Amino acid sequence: MEIRKSEFFISSSTVGQCPSDSKAEYAFIGRSNVGKSSLINMLCNHKGLAKTSATPGKTLLINHFIVNDQWYLVDLPGYGYAQRSKKTQEKLSFMIKSYILQREQLANLFLLIDVRHSPQKIDLEFINFLGENGIPFAIIFTKADKISREKLGNNVRAYMEKLSETWEELPPYFITSSEKKEGRTEVLNYIDHINKELSSTSEES
Ligand code: GTP
Ligand code: MG
Repeated sequence: MEIRKSEFFISSSTVGQCPSDSKAEYAFIGRSNVGKSSLINMLCNHKGLAKTSATPGKTLLINHFIVNDQWYLVDLPGYGYAQRSKKTQEKLSFMIKSYILQREQLANLFLLIDVRHSPQKIDLEFINFLGENGIPFAIIFTKADKISREKLGNNVRAYMEKLSETWEELPPYFITSSEKKEGRTEVLNYIDHINKELSSTSEES
């Protein structure tokens, strides 16, 4: 799929403020600093579209970006940033979870995991939350450029094995590097596939 156009659309602090049209959307979630905003820029080939930062806690709102005038990419605030006050943590967690549970336009959620780390409790808990609530999601391993190919393979394998202890059916996963533009075609093809599926089911009804 070609991305011809990508533009900032709106920032919302509650799910109720999100766009009221029925375009499909694809959102990105994960720990603060995992690379959500960078990945959106990489997928769109549009530097500076989503704001990124070397310090965690940059994205604080639900940000919609419209792609090819047809569908949205949604940048969400990260979770698990220990330096935040408890009150801010709770507010952001409520914002994220309300969006995920209530947003009917959410076609697929991408859960980002830094591929350098072993499975972390906070991410596994988030995956359980998604599974228990039947949210369609895929995993995106980020920052693949930061470790050797051998370590990369081992970490991904270990992660999926850990998930198989709890889940019978494993989510699809992608390996990416925003730095090296790795995994771009695979993620865009996946989105394209879902978009096509959605438009064929809406034609039938
Ligand atoms: P919050 O909005 O704070 O939750 O963070 P985020 O998940 O949006 O992360 P962001 O995209 O702002 O990236 C955080 C830092 O990681 C930045 O310094 C990025 O340059 C860096 N980064 C993101 N993706 C990659 C990657 O694939 N490779 C490398 N080497 N660095 C990356
Ligand atoms: Mg961000």
